[in-house]
Order: sequence, then structure tokens, then C-alpha cells
Amino acid sequence: MKVPFLDLSLQHRALREPALAALTATYDATRFCLGKDVEDFERNFGATLGYPRVLGMNSGTSPLHVACLVGGFGPGDEVITTPFTFISSAWGISYVGAKPVFVDIEEGTFNLAPAKIAAAITPRTKGIIVVHLFGQPARMDEIMAVARKHNLFAIEDCAQAIGARYLGTSAAAGSAGVPPATPVGLIGDVGTFSFYPTKNLGACGEGGAFVSRDEAIQTKARHIRVHGSDRRYYHDIVGGNFRMDGFQGALLNVKLPHLGRWTARRQEIAGRFLAGIKLSDLRMPEQPAYGRSVLHQFTVRHPRRDALREHLAKQEIGTDLIYPVPLHLQKCYSGLGYGRGAFPVAERAADTCVSLPIFPELTDAQVDHVIKAINSF
Ligand SMILES: Cc1ncc(COP(=O)(O)O)c(C=O)c1O
Repeated sequence: MKVPFLDLSLQHRALREPALAALTATYDATRFCLGKDVEDFERNFGATLGYPRVLGMNSGTSPLHVACLVGGFGPGDEVITTPFTFISSAWGISYVGAKPVFVDIEEGTFNLAPAKIAAAITPRTKGIIVVHLFGQPARMDEIMAVARKHNLFAIEDCAQAIGARYLGTSAAAGSAGVPPATPVGLIGDVGTFSFYPTKNLGACGEGGAFVSRDEAIQTKARHIRVHGSDRRYYHDIVGGNFRMDGFQGALLNVKLPHLGRWTARRQEIAGRFLAGIKLSDLRMPEQPAYGRSVLHQFTVRHPRRDALREHLAKQEIGTDLIYPVPLHLQKCYSGLGYGRGAFPVAERAADTCVSLPIFPELTDAQVDHVIKAINSF
């Protein structure tokens, strides 16, 4: 039985009629850049997931860039983030001329280890970019306690965590008092999303969003999104072109009503994996009770990861390595002076992780095939 790592065609085939109708309407109305479809999507996304202010943007990298501009980071500033993430979590820091400062992750969730953040703070530290990796919220009570104490501008990269909620840890040491069941992205100063086609809510092309509780932050980001402008041809601040295009807004409006069902199916598949996989030396991802993961990835660890992948490939099961090289060991960041051994938990994760198929259209029989294949390794 074939189990691809991901097959986007199933979801798109199922939605072909309404998707093409929506795209055709946008085409006929020539609503190509922002416009009604994007405005509708911003409102729908906010209403569905609990965000008071949403700005559609042209990728998940763009709102991170805009957030670093709004945060006022620049040359001489340091911004803390995780070394175990997709590279663009750090791009915004570099684009504005600031310096990424990495802090190691915790073993169980792959997310920033709150206890290690304080040691990385210097008088130059201006911000922190927290990533809710693989759909699992990071420990925001503890992280925000440090951020508030040091007056850091906090950005949440929710690219992989669309719909995830932070349920809160009232017992957390140094609790910053995050209200229970807060959607990720509303805990810090800014939240950013990606609608890259493989994400839990994927566009037919590039897309992203910027959210904030704070009206002034949102207004500034809105101006930066359109060439630093509120009025056409009047540019009060230096901006750029970060606009979402109309086709993506139209398509995302068609997909959004299905997101809850798709997320529930991801969670069901994860539950099946957690109950069924029994292989010694294999480490499952942890889902602590303080957060509700949306299971963008189901990433396990095994000391003989490459052999396990080969074993699964022989049984027609697709897997992926997300991520094989942590950020501090990427060539582009060699100038930061980190070497191997700087962040042992992230390095161990990169060396031993393997992500299993977990898209909503998988059948139970396919999931059980994966479980059986892993258990027979
Ligand atoms: C954690 C994380 N941050 C940022 C991004 C960037 O999103 P995009 O590819 O839409 O620019 C991605 C997506 O690939 C991601 O996984």
C-alpha cells in the first residue's frame, strides 16, 4: 500500500468546483491585489480562529520581515530565536540588519527552551521570535515572563500552527498570565502565518498573514504592506510590497470552512500513531497539556533514523527530514560564529528526526500500514 508523505491533489480535487468558481469570479472582477476577496478572508480568518485584526500578505516570510520592521530592530540589535525551524523564521532579523541569537530547544516539543533564554540576553537584545513548530505551541507563559521582564518585542511564528491554542499553565513558574485558550499569535506582540500550499491551510501559491492585538502595531504593518502608504502616492514611512493577491484570498475563503475538520483528522491520526507505534528507541513528539497542537507534522526521533526511513521507503511509505540542518550550522549563518556543539538538543533533533505522513486525507488503513511498518523495524 502506497502512503505518500503528502498528496495535495486529493484536497484540491475535492474542492475543484467551488475553488474554480471563486477564482473565476475574482478573475472576472479583476480583483488581483488585495481587494474584496482578501478583505473577506481577513475577516473570515479572524472570526474563525479568534483574531481581532488580520492582514493578508504575500507569504509567511513577509509578515516576519514586517514584524521585524514594526519591532524597530536594526543594526546593532540582537533578536533571540530557535535554531530548529525553517530558515525564514530568522530571515526578518537579517533583512533589517539585526543579529539572530539562537537559544537551544527542549527535547520533548522541539520548541524554544524557556529556561535557556535568560542567559542569551544582553543589553542589545531587542526582541524574540518564538516558533510554534510542527503545530505545537511553545511554552508561552515562561517565554513571555522573560520577554516582559527584558522589554522584548515578541513575535510568534505561527506558520505551522494555524488554529493552535495556548491553553495556559497557571502553575507555570514565572507565569505571565496568558489568558487560557488564547489562539497562538495573540500572546506576543505580533503573530505571523504562512499559507504555503503544504501548510494546514494552504493557498494555491504563496500567502501569509500578520496579526496583532495592538491597533498601532497593526496600522503600521498595514502601511508597510503597501509601500509605507495610507494614501496612494503619499509615503510616510519606508515600506514594501507585502500584499496578498486576490486569487489567494478567494481560494483561502473556500478552504477555511474545512480547516476545523482537517485539523481534527490530523489530531485523530496523531492519536492513532501515539497509541499504535511501539518501537524501542523511538521517541514520540510530546504534546503537553498547556497547548493544543494542530499537528502540522508528526516528527519522531530514532538513533538509526536513516535506516528507519529506508525500511519505510521499501514499504512505499514517504517520510521527510524536517529539518536536517539547524540554523546555526547553515552556511548563510556561518558568520555568526556558532559551531557544532553550540546547541546540542537542536543538533540531536536534526540528526535523529524523521517526519511521518499526517495529512487529513490519509485513510485509517494507510495510517495502520505506517504503524505496522514502524513496529516491524
Ligand atoms: C516555521 C516557518 N516559518 C516561516 C515560514 C515561511 O513561510 P513561506 O514559505 O510562506 O514564506 C515557514 C514555511 O515554510 C515555516 O515553516
